Amino acid sequence: MCQMGDGIAVLPTAPHQPRNGDVLFPFRADSDFFYLTQFPEPEAAMVLAPGRPEGEFILFCREKDPKKEIWDGRREGVQGATANFGADQAFPIDELEATLPSLMENKDRVFTVVGRYPEFDSEIIHGLSQIRNRQRSGVHAPGEIVDLSHLLHEMRLIKRKEELHLMRRAAGITARAHIRAMQSTSPGLYEYQVQAELEYEFRLGGSQWPAYPSIVAGGANACILHYTENSCRLGDGDLLLIDAGAEFDCYAADITRTFPVNGRFSGEQRAVYEVVLAAQAAAIAAVVPERPIIEYHDAAVQVLTEGLVDLGLLTGDPAELIESQAYKRFYMHRTGHWLGMDVHDVGDYKIDDQWRLLEPGMVLTVEPGLYIPAAGDIPQRWHNIGIRIEDDILVTRAGHENLTEKAPKAADDIEHLMSG
Ligand code: GLY
Ligand code: MN
Ligand code: MN
Repeated sequence: MCQMGDGIAVLPTAPHQPRNGDVLFPFRADSDFFYLTQFPEPEAAMVLAPGRPEGEFILFCREKDPKKEIWDGRREGVQGATANFGADQAFPIDELEATLPSLMENKDRVFTVVGRYPEFDSEIIHGLSQIRNRQRSGVHAPGEIVDLSHLLHEMRLIKRKEELHLMRRAAGITARAHIRAMQSTSPGLYEYQVQAELEYEFRLGGSQWPAYPSIVAGGANACILHYTENSCRLGDGDLLLIDAGAEFDCYAADITRTFPVNGRFSGEQRAVYEVVLAAQAAAIAAVVPERPIIEYHDAAVQVLTEGLVDLGLLTGDPAELIESQAYKRFYMHRTGHWLGMDVHDVGDYKIDDQWRLLEPGMVLTVEPGLYIPAAGDIPQRWHNIGIRIEDDILVTRAGHENLTEKAPKAADDIEHLMSG
């Protein structure tokens, strides 16, 4: 709160999106709102008003309503908001519009998530104009609306102990799910059947839902980076790439494993696999505090490019192939991203145009891959091999910790697991 000066922060949770008719999509709180409040219900907003004598942390939420609760489930109500969520005061959400002007008056600035929820932006602007209309009575309206996102996102980038606890839960559930997927895969199954095994394990472990749509991509589908149809039959001799992560209490895991549908890597599959695995190891080794974040991507690109040359898929000097970006034909994405409440989590990657230095408490994914298209100039034996290996890495004071190491990834370990 000390960064707010003489300001007030106002932040709504996400709208509850209609699906069709009177059916709604499952409700997922706004990540920033949940980060600050842990309040899980829809139709809620929070106000932070430093120095306000009646209370600094105010929650607006749905009132208790025995009739509606019979249909739609329990509500905390304003009593629950103060008793269970640490709010100093709570009011019915229906009173937000009428209350906002008095909360904002005589403040210098309003912090909010500008542009995220246009209806909420209008409510704030409406509140400001109401204060201006009363200017002659001696009140003044805030002169600035400041985007709260950046401030909050820098906080969210460094995970607290309680957050890491939830991320470890999500990671553990997800590792078990990938093991189950490996154990239940065999030729002839459909991708969605393996998806069902995987997501069964998510839910069994207490995850509310996947953190993003699961990618279960057999054979050539693995070369479609965001393949989510998961509708094809798995062929004997194909690889299966699974990129899936559980969400646990609003925190995400993000694991990719690639394994042979029939339980045995072919020679070509194993050769490419070992390159990706070595690239991942090199990239993970570069995840240490005080190093610029770009270094782990560069480490992966180096090993992948050398590997492509060794395999005969590229010819030339690796340094030149990196310079000319020739490797991008087979590796077209970056090596990872921040991970947290959102799978592609918030936080800047550059500060003043320089790649930022890693710090303890940051969590990022390390996910190199190679994707070999069925192109005429590439020998057929390599066609449609798509491999990605992804783990979730916490930066620690001593270096790093792999939160997802329980999901097997050595080729021999995978074959052993699948033979059981
Ligand atoms: N699952 C999305 C990603 O790996 O970035
Ligand atoms: Mn992923
Ligand atoms: Mn990822």
